[in-house]
Amino acid sequence: MRAVQARMESCLAAALPPAKVAPARLHEAMRYASLDGGKRVRPLLVFAAGEVSQSAPERLEIAAAAVELIHTYSLVHDDLPCMDDDTLRRGKATTHIEFDQATALLVGDSLQSLAFQILSERPVAESAQTQLEMIALLARAIGSRGMAGGQAIDLASIDKTLSVPELEFMHIHKTGALIRAAVMLGAHCCRALTQDELKALDSYAKWVGLAFQVVDDILDARETTATLGKTAGKDAQANKPTYVSIMGPLGARTLAQELHEKALAALRLFDAKANRLREIAEFILNRSN
Ligand code: IPE
Ligand code: IPE
Ligand code: MG
Ligand code: MG
Ligand code: MG
Repeated sequence: MRAVQARMESCLAAALPPAKVAPARLHEAMRYASLDGGKRVRPLLVFAAGEVSQSAPERLEIAAAAVELIHTYSLVHDDLPCMDDDTLRRGKATTHIEFDQATALLVGDSLQSLAFQILSERPVAESAQTQLEMIALLARAIGSRGMAGGQAIDLASIDKTLSVPELEFMHIHKTGALIRAAVMLGAHCCRALTQDELKALDSYAKWVGLAFQVVDDILDARETTATLGKTAGKDAQANKPTYVSIMGPLGARTLAQELHEKALAALRLFDAKANRLREIAEFILNRSN
């Protein structure tokens, strides 16, 4: 885990424009938001899926960096006053607090653009066609029918009670879609997997992606700001429907465990090559931030 985190840090540091190059304030803010923080769960998933497809780390790190840049953009925007209005992220002031709102908006735009730039400019797959498929896969995952759509539903749900299927729909989009893309990108970096193998990985990613947000909701309600590195209790404060508000902390925990088991079951057809994916599922369930 630490090896992937360190590799991500240096890969992102190299991919991001230097802080002194104009427009310096924007570049400084992009680096501030992206470097020195975050668990790098999505890059870990890219690398772990890459063990199944036996991909070269040099390719995986590019796909992983692209996903992490998208994730970071989503956090910078998620924290803006017009969205969740948060002041703390990854143990530091949020980007719009450290800089300003317009800069934070542009940081998000620029990180998103950089992600697609590196995913298209650098070699990440066996063929140009596979690479194009990977770019399309990421684009689909984060648009209005993926992550951004999920965020829209999240904001429209304030002060409302959602049914469990509605909540699941929201979580699968706002958080699950990018996590799913991370696994599928890692799977596409090298050896062509069979349709059954791809389906199994996609199913694993779907359950793990949903579990990730269920646990995020649990932690928001249970942990302290110091442990989370972001303000605790925000969901209840903003009156957002979450698995905790709808099922209670115990119901949410039971669900997270069931999702974890479904994720492991989806990996049945793989041998030890999928052990990293199994370990990450465990980490996602038992993490404390
Ligand atoms: C937080 O994601 C936002 C969600 C999608 C739930 P992470 O918990 O992966 O945040 P970092 O990257 O570690 O800060
Ligand atoms: C964030 O969900 C989802 C995305 C950024 C796409 P949350 O709003 O629950 O994330 P935190 O709790 O602020 O990290
Ligand atoms: Mg949010
Ligand atoms: Mg938020
Ligand atoms: Mg949250």
